[in-house]
Amino acid sequence: MTAECIIKQHYNGEGLDELARLCFGHRGLLSGICSPAAEQSLREAASSAGILIGTAVRPAQLSEATYAATLAREFNMVEPEDALKWEIVHPAPDSYDFSQGDQVVDFATRHGVKVRGHTLVWHRQNPKWLTEGKYTSAELAEILEKHIKTVVGHYRGKTFAWDVVNEAFDELRAGELRSTIWRDQPGIGLSASTQSKQPYAYIERCLRWAHEADPQALLFYNDAEAEVVNPKSDAIYAMVRDFRQRGVPIDGVGLQMHIAHLHADVASISENIKRLTALGVQVHITEMDVALPVDALGNAGAEDLRQQAEIYRDIVAVCLAYRGCSAIQTWGFTDKYSWIGSHSKHTEGAALLFDRGYRTKPAYEAVRKTLESAAR
Ligand code: XIL
Repeated sequence: MTAECIIKQHYNGEGLDELARLCFGHRGLLSGICSPAAEQSLREAASSAGILIGTAVRPAQLSEATYAATLAREFNMVEPEDALKWEIVHPAPDSYDFSQGDQVVDFATRHGVKVRGHTLVWHRQNPKWLTEGKYTSAELAEILEKHIKTVVGHYRGKTFAWDVVNEAFDELRAGELRSTIWRDQPGIGLSASTQSKQPYAYIERCLRWAHEADPQALLFYNDAEAEVVNPKSDAIYAMVRDFRQRGVPIDGVGLQMHIAHLHADVASISENIKRLTALGVQVHITEMDVALPVDALGNAGAEDLRQQAEIYRDIVAVCLAYRGCSAIQTWGFTDKYSWIGSHSKHTEGAALLFDRGYRTKPAYEAVRKTLESAAR
């Protein structure tokens, strides 16, 4: 047994945190080395509840002891935050770079954690060679097919699920597909073999290619601002229903769940999860964070942190209410590494379950307790 564990077992009085800090620098590492006996970790509570609890991961941070220990202790699912996006994984027409993605997969394998792949088709974080390549429709279709089959093939048997297509619907033009290089190239969707006149035929094509590359992987369509019932989620619902009726391989819908202004219409989210799961597909909450206003030091107010905890609790509870809602994932886990800061020009932050020092926040306790009390 390590010295840390002996101390943990024999010293349970107040001041444990302080003692740990003195001896080992921080509490997170201590807890990571010997998980607390009395309180379950998120992953223990989630396993009992029959649900996956995940987080987005930045491979560069895996060498940070507290980051790695917290990740392994608390989560049973991970998703590379950026490592599998085109600009990183496919930097030049004929070269792939799986090094960052492989780091995440290796970590997951060592810790018995499932991997969600993200993402094969998106309008952002694409390399210039692709977006400025002036390819014909036929060329672009070939490039996309090869990309999907190469990336999914590389991780075959290692990723249990994929966000095949991300954010294809437009938020401004209600229910319509966004104009992207993929949608705007009819060769991708309307090729002779597809015979489909649906505007989202390119999404169908991508799902079929991914399925060929790994028939076991669960294939998801993932989107933002479609968590509640609204024109965008109506369009996604109609597409998924059509896919299911025609046997197009789709297994789930990802609801990103980036929550702003401390507002979540839980009843409407519940309605949406209900209708999606009724189609026989799974729902994953894929990118949850709850952004708070922060001061110049990145700190949020106590009342906001309390309300944030309530929102986390409500979202976990609404997912747990449907058996088909099978995973809850946050977009990172420590406020030290979160996209919300750069995204909001540092006016917002503190969106995750652990603070910048890896201390648990009220939101963490809310998620843990809700998972613990779940009877599924
Ligand atoms: C974000 C990452 O968190 C950032 O590191 C990156 O700079 C931009 O992309 N929706 C998605 C995610 O599907 O891939 C995005 O991730 C956040 C919004």
